[in-house]
Amino acid sequence: MWKAMWGLLLLLVLLACGVSCDEGGQDQDEEQKGPSRRGHITIVVVGATGDLAKKYLWQGFFHQYVSRVGKGHSFSFYGGGLSPDDQGTPRLFEILKSQTCPAGVSEERCALVKEQFLRLSQYRQLRSAEDYQALGQHIETQLRQEGMVEAGRLFYLSVPPTAYADIAERVNRSCRPPRGAWLRVVLEKPFGHDLSSAQELGTRLAKSLKEEEMYRIDHYLGKQVVSQILPFRKENSKFLQPIWNKHHIDRVDIVLKETLDAKGRLSFYDQYGVIRDVIQNHLTEVMTLLTMSVPKNLTDCNEINRNKLRVFSSLHRLEKGSAVIGQYQAYNSEVQLELNKTKDHFSLTPTFAGIAIHTTMPQYEGVPMFLVSGKRLDERVGYARVTFKNNVFCVEDQSSVTCKPKQIIFYIGHGLLQYPAILVSKNLFKPALVNSGWKEVTENQDKLLFGLPLSEYYIQTPMVQREAYTELISQVFRGRRDHFLSSDSLLASWKFWTPLLKSQEHTFPRPYPGSPSNANLLDFQLQGREVRFTTEALVNVIPQERTESFQVMHGKYRGADMVSAWPEELVERLAHDIEEAAEEAVLGGAPFHMALSGGSSPLALFKRLAQHHHTFPWWNTHVWLADERCVPPTEDESNFRTVHDHLLRHVRLPYFNIHPMPVELNQRLCVEEDGGAGAYERDIARLVNASSLSYVLLGVGFDGHTASLFPGNRLEARGERLVTLTESPVKPHQRMSLTFGAINRAQRVSVLVMGKGKHELVTQLSRIKDTPDRWPITKIQPANGRLVWYIDYEALLGQ
Ligand code: BG6
Repeated sequence: MWKAMWGLLLLLVLLACGVSCDEGGQDQDEEQKGPSRRGHITIVVVGATGDLAKKYLWQGFFHQYVSRVGKGHSFSFYGGGLSPDDQGTPRLFEILKSQTCPAGVSEERCALVKEQFLRLSQYRQLRSAEDYQALGQHIETQLRQEGMVEAGRLFYLSVPPTAYADIAERVNRSCRPPRGAWLRVVLEKPFGHDLSSAQELGTRLAKSLKEEEMYRIDHYLGKQVVSQILPFRKENSKFLQPIWNKHHIDRVDIVLKETLDAKGRLSFYDQYGVIRDVIQNHLTEVMTLLTMSVPKNLTDCNEINRNKLRVFSSLHRLEKGSAVIGQYQAYNSEVQLELNKTKDHFSLTPTFAGIAIHTTMPQYEGVPMFLVSGKRLDERVGYARVTFKNNVFCVEDQSSVTCKPKQIIFYIGHGLLQYPAILVSKNLFKPALVNSGWKEVTENQDKLLFGLPLSEYYIQTPMVQREAYTELISQVFRGRRDHFLSSDSLLASWKFWTPLLKSQEHTFPRPYPGSPSNANLLDFQLQGREVRFTTEALVNVIPQERTESFQVMHGKYRGADMVSAWPEELVERLAHDIEEAAEEAVLGGAPFHMALSGGSSPLALFKRLAQHHHTFPWWNTHVWLADERCVPPTEDESNFRTVHDHLLRHVRLPYFNIHPMPVELNQRLCVEEDGGAGAYERDIARLVNASSLSYVLLGVGFDGHTASLFPGNRLEARGERLVTLTESPVKPHQRMSLTFGAINRAQRVSVLVMGKGKHELVTQLSRIKDTPDRWPITKIQPANGRLVWYIDYEALLGQ
């Protein structure tokens, strides 16, 4: 009879949870399985006196003990650490003694259970392979002596991930339980810092542990609200199904804001930064729970995993422009101090990021999902907010419920509410409670949350608040893997995040002062699928001693404005300024006429403009050339070819807005009589108001030439002309160029100078007077426009 029932139960469990992501059905969800599965459980916390263990883990284990003692299992607890026993033991017991019982346990019972718990616990030094061997032997001897049946062994590795593979190997070799008992090893992030390191760690761990033995924790999955996202979606599917799609959802915000800084853990944080620390994991997990298909069986980790993987595979690839990043201002000096770095050390680690994610899933196509997190922000709060479109226009009664924001908020914790909750605005629907352990909230109705008083939400909250770790530890005891990360979803997540992380590697995060002075500095907005800050960076918030090595510096050069930065940042800034000038022109109702130079310096700029083409008003832009080499446009040496290959073919501007210089006419190159220069000049006069180009981008050569205006070219004779043929001292000798007259009529002229090789030139130019014959660049002086030099730090400082 028992056997038959047991077989049936086992079958049900296997069907419910699938085999591959569990322990082959072995000991899964023990409570359901009857006494034959009961036995002794050994718990080993490696890193037992560390911060995490002290703050959360022992509390979780103690609560498990309190709720399970006397129900068929027996336990022993080992706290492992690197210190010898005489130092580790008192430290461990100080922590264990400070544990509190779960709510509802009487003082008397609590004292009794705590005493037992302490008796069952011991410290062990776990430093070498021999230490693990001795532990394994000790566990076996104890079990044998006391005649106990073994249920399983749980190892919680609360140590840096660099130690995981070695410990796993030792556990496998010396501490693996005999057949019939389970082994569960709990691991904590970071699981690598990019795709390849995560793969490498995975491969090393897989040598010692089976996939179903690994419990990779993301503590956000243990947060009460996060763990109820899928149940909420399922429970309320009849309301949600018609509106959980792109026709109704306007946007999704997944946010974790913190007021604290990263001090005290910079050796970790400085290598990881905000995206790796909380976005790649915690916020991404929330995103997958919100967008995956709701599994038929909420505890089926295989189905959950499959649905999660589908989410990852449908996400649009993240590009550099998908994120804005920032760094609070005190961060760098904190790094210098805590990591013993010199004063000129500069960290590019972001402490803030705002990211826009889009999916190709037909259900949500076009709905932006914003993932945002940062340290030193105005409040500590975590939430996921789904805002629905509202196309109702209330003409007179603005307070009408139909006009109010429609939203569902998964309030993870802290912030205004101070408790975890799920809120549904009353103009959507009245949700069912997610489970019997939750209740409705009706207090503090006038507080405002996201534009609505609490009275206008249906609010539900857990009756008893539980720590995420306590919840997850309880799941590990039960062998429930649906709240843990599988190796393939972990790798899918890294695969998604790695390109963005790589593209941001050399980007300077925007400095922000830290709350309360951040004001709007970190606000960002969506443009196409990209994001950008809505305000200019406050360069003057950077302390003086850092301006040279940091971000963008503004100054004067040869009496004109100068912008300087490290190359990538400089290009970013120049692109941004060009885009701003274009928008300004277009907003003023005029086309944007931009003349571009050839050479290698502007290549990075062209690339950057091409990447961000969604936001640039290309449809209203005309592209001219500042100069051209007299070669067919198909040749590599042609400036037009360069502009074409690196920019024009990637952006959408009308073909008739593209104006290559006519260097090839009548099947010959740059022959005066063919009148190419005159024709180009006429085109400019015909299309450009007062022949005043909106923007001319120039470079400067080692000999001081700009466009194709070289030292010694006798240009005066060309009088008022806008375009001319010139001679270059280097091949190809023949050129066509805008004249000084054309350039100096422009509304804005930028000179881009990049690279260490130009340092001497930059120094020399800074000293000399205007001598156009010798240094043509010195004749660039827009009559009514503005000249700005963009000089990177390499050229400016020679570094
Ligand atoms: C951790 C990060 O994973 O999550 C921390 O390493 C962050 O930097 C923390 O502060 C946030 O978690 P919680 O539970 O405080 O919201």
